[in-house]
Parts: sequence; structure tokens; C-alpha cells
Amino acid sequence: MKYASQKVAFWFFATCMLLFTLQLIYGFIMGFAHMGFDVLHDLIPFNTARAVHTNLLVVWLLTGFMGAAHYIIPDEVQRELYSVKLAYIQLGSLVVVGVVALIGFHVNWWEGRKFLEIPRPLDYLVVVNVLTFLFNIGMTVFKANRASTTSIVLYTGLVAAALLYLPGMIYFENQTMDSYFRWWVVHLWVEGVWELIMGGILAYLLIKLTGVDREVIEKWLYIIVGLTFLSGILGTGHHYYYIGAPKYWLWVGGIFSALEPLAFLGMALFAITMYRRSGREHPNKLALMWTMGCAIMSFVGAGFLGFAHTLPQVNLYTHGTLVTAMHGHLAFWGAYAMIVLAIINYSMPLMTGRKNYGSMTGNLAFWLSNIGMLGMTGAFAVAGIAQVYLERKMGMDFLQVQREVEPHFLGLVLAASLFTVGIALYIFDFTKFGFPSDEALGVSEDTTVVV
Ligand code: HEM
Ligand code: HEM
Ligand SMILES: [Fe+2]
Repeated sequence: MKYASQKVAFWFFATCMLLFTLQLIYGFIMGFAHMGFDVLHDLIPFNTARAVHTNLLVVWLLTGFMGAAHYIIPDEVQRELYSVKLAYIQLGSLVVVGVVALIGFHVNWWEGRKFLEIPRPLDYLVVVNVLTFLFNIGMTVFKANRASTTSIVLYTGLVAAALLYLPGMIYFENQTMDSYFRWWVVHLWVEGVWELIMGGILAYLLIKLTGVDREVIEKWLYIIVGLTFLSGILGTGHHYYYIGAPKYWLWVGGIFSALEPLAFLGMALFAITMYRRSGREHPNKLALMWTMGCAIMSFVGAGFLGFAHTLPQVNLYTHGTLVTAMHGHLAFWGAYAMIVLAIINYSMPLMTGRKNYGSMTGNLAFWLSNIGMLGMTGAFAVAGIAQVYLERKMGMDFLQVQREVEPHFLGLVLAASLFTVGIALYIFDFTKFGFPSDEALGVSEDTTVVV
């Protein structure tokens, strides 16, 4: 670690671990409910659990991106963070707004719009909070003498993510219009600007871990950004097929969204190529595993499984079923959860000065969580395909079908348990590093150059 202010990132990462744990608890509540054991129904009905599960996911990922920015930006632009105090205030207020929203969901204070459930008054607080964050990081870049492509891509992604929150705050009486603009947030986040954030963090990690020239890595980053926008913007149309939007979206959405996997393929090829050109043996192999794992799993979850239901002819049957949950889990895990876990894994030894690389628990955490998540994806896929045939092809009633697919959720809960053991080990490893310390300032990465 070069700058003392980078330590702030630790508190963002610790918050991530806490919110991630809570997210999983709500996942289990839903998993059991799907099996037929909806014992908490009166206290936490399914819709509440679902909103809490998905919103916690979004909040812990955003907190992780913010932590990553606090660590990466000072290092890239070579100066201390503009204001450490402001960073703490911003994190604290983010947690307060988040907790109020979560409590609100339990007492029916929410907007029933998937992923954008946070009630309007709290939305304004989120906006102020995110502006504070962007101001702090923006001033750090502005006051510095240099800005790298990596830091610009990361920062642009964060600014664009904030701007794209706004269309979700416009009020419409009309359901189609509301849905139309809701996708500007949800789709253009995960299949647009979040990819820039992911690309920025990925490029930073690859520069550090493989030792390949920055120029080469940043050239790839341009290609990935280009592919993302080329396909992702008009790809929004894959959510407009059957919601009452004009018919031309069937063509536009089908064609452009079918091209979206290219950006994820680019990301995977990018990481693999840089890995093979690596001229450096970085001691933190686990961070490299998370980085490579992210590039590959995001292609499988987002690219491959996204493509599986993106054509209008398929989506007509799969829309809103458990097939969507199958894709949603592996895509979010591969692309965004894994990149956050990668940067945490990379930065913890450097922030704390404890070179606790490659422990047994760390390795187990990687493999158990990934195998568990693949198992969960498989369980959702089986339940989803059964649901499509029974409900959409044979015309059985929705709730009757839910009963038919109950046994598949035993598989889900078992795989989720394996996944959770992996995450518990990851968090255990995280706590073993202890707190960040100024003694870690200037500690080298101990790399051995092999070429
Ligand atoms: C990391 C990137 C991605 C993430 C995190 C992600 C996640 C999700 C999530 C959570 C949903 C459900 C949204 C909702 O109903 O509110 C969804 C829907 C969908 N995604 Fe993705 N996705 C990603 C990339 C892709 C890509 C690249 C494609 C296409 C190639 C794709 C195709 C779809 C389609 C067609 C739907 C609509 C499903 C339906 O009609 O129910 N996704 N995605
Ligand atoms: C203990 C582990 C987990 C369990 C048991 C679990 C279970 C579930 C269940 C049962 C649903 C509701 C599906 C439905 O609508 O019927 C759901 C939704 C969702 N979960 Fe999880 N989950 C877990 C972990 C995760 C993780 C780690 C992520 C992200 C990396 C994630 C992302 C999502 C998303 C995006 C949705 C919404 C999907 C959609 O829009 O269809 N979950 N989860
Ligand atoms: Fe989409």
C-alpha cells in the first residue's frame, strides 16, 4: 500500500462482508419457502425476503465497488484520497439509509418494482450519498497530476451508474412506461456501465498480478468498452419484447442482445491472454484465481446463460420464470461478486501488512463457493425448465406448478449450503487479516520476475 488513505477501503469491504452474510440468510428463507417450508411467512413473507435478498446484493456490490475505488484510485493517480473524513461519513450514511430501507421492506414501506424497491424519499438520500462519494473520488483525480485509462474507465463507470439511477425515479401512472424506464436502470447497469467498473477493476488487478505492460492491458480495455456499448445499449430491447413496447424491439433487442456475450467473451480472453503473457510470479495466487475466475464465470453466467433466453422466441416461454433466476445467480456471482472478492483478496495483505497468502481456508473458500454456485445454477435450471414446460407449454396453474417443482429446491438448498460454507471460510480468512495499519505503508508486493 502506497497511501495511508487507501485504508478506508477496508471499512467498505468489512461492510460488504456483513451485508453479504445477511443476503444469504434471506436466500435460505426463500429456498426453504420454495421447498414448502414457509414457516416465517407471517413475519417475513416471500416478497419481503426477495426484495431484501436482491437489494442487499446490489448494496453490498456497490459498497464493494466504492471500496475498490478508494483503494485503486489513489494508487493509480498517485496521491492521497481527497478527504478520508468524507469517505467515512459517506460510508456511515450509506449504511444508515440501507438499514432504514431494509426495515422498511419488513413493514411494507417499499415500491413493488423489482430491484428498485427503495421508497422514493430514501432514493433522494441515496442520490446525495452517491454524489458525495463521486465528489470525493472525483476531487482525488482532479487534484492529481496524472490519470490512467484504468482509473478513467472505473470512474466513468461509477459516474454513469449514478446518472442511470435517475430514470428509475421518474413517476409514471402507466405500467408499460414504468417498466420501460426501470430497465434503463437495471439493464443498463448490469449490461452496460457496471461492466466498465468490472473492466476497470479487472484491468487494475491484471496489471498488478501479471506484470504485463499497462499499455497492452489498457488497449484491451478500450475494445471491451466498445463491445459493451455496441451491444448493451440496444440490447435493452430484450426486456421490451412483451411488455407493451413497440414491435420493432423484437428485432432490435434480439439482434443486439445476442451480441452481448461478445463483451464477456472479450473479458475472458483478455484475462487468459494476459495470464499467459505474465512475466511475473505474484505471491498472491489466490487473488489471481479470483480474478481469472471472475473473467471466466461471468462469461458462463452472463454471456452463455444470458444468451440462452435472450431470443424473443425463447423468452416468450422463459420470461419471469426460474430460468431467469438461474441466469441471474451465475451472472451476478461471476461478474460482480467475484470481482469484488478478487479486489478484497488482493488488497487485504497490502492494507494490513500480513502476507497471509494462499491459506488452506482461502483456497477452500474459492472452490466451495464456486462449486456451490454452479450447483445452485443447475438446481434453478432444472426447476426453471420444468416450470416452463408445465406452466407455459401445458398451461398448468402457476401455484400448482410451484408445488410440482418443490423437490428441486432440496437440491438448491444443499448446493447453497456448500456455497455458504465457502463464503463463511472467505469471511473467516478476511477477519484473520485483522485491521489495516500504517505499518503496511510501502510494503512491497514481493514479486519475483521470471521473464
Ligand atoms: C453480468 C451481467 C448480467 C447480470 C448481472 C444479469 C442479471 C440479470 C437479472 C438479475 C435478471 C432479472 C431481472 C429482472 O427480471 O428484474 C436478468 C434478466 C435477463 N437477462 Fe441478464 N444479466 C447479465 C447479462 C446478460 C446478458 C449478457 C444477456 C444476454 C445475452 C442477458 C439476458 C437476459 C434476459 C433475456 C433477461 C430477461 C429474463 C426474463 O425475461 O425474465 N443478461 N439478468
Ligand atoms: C445461500 C445462498 C442463496 C440462496 C439459497 C438463494 C436463493 C434465492 C431464491 C430462492 C431466489 C428467488 C427465486 C424466485 O423468484 O423464486 C433468489 C433470487 C435472487 N438471488 Fe439468490 N440465493 C442465494 C445467494 C445469492 C447470491 C450469492 C447471489 C448473487 C451473487 C444471488 C442473486 C439473486 C438474484 C439476482 C435473484 C433474483 C433473480 C431473478 O430476478 O429472477 N443469490 N435467490
Ligand atoms: Fe438485460
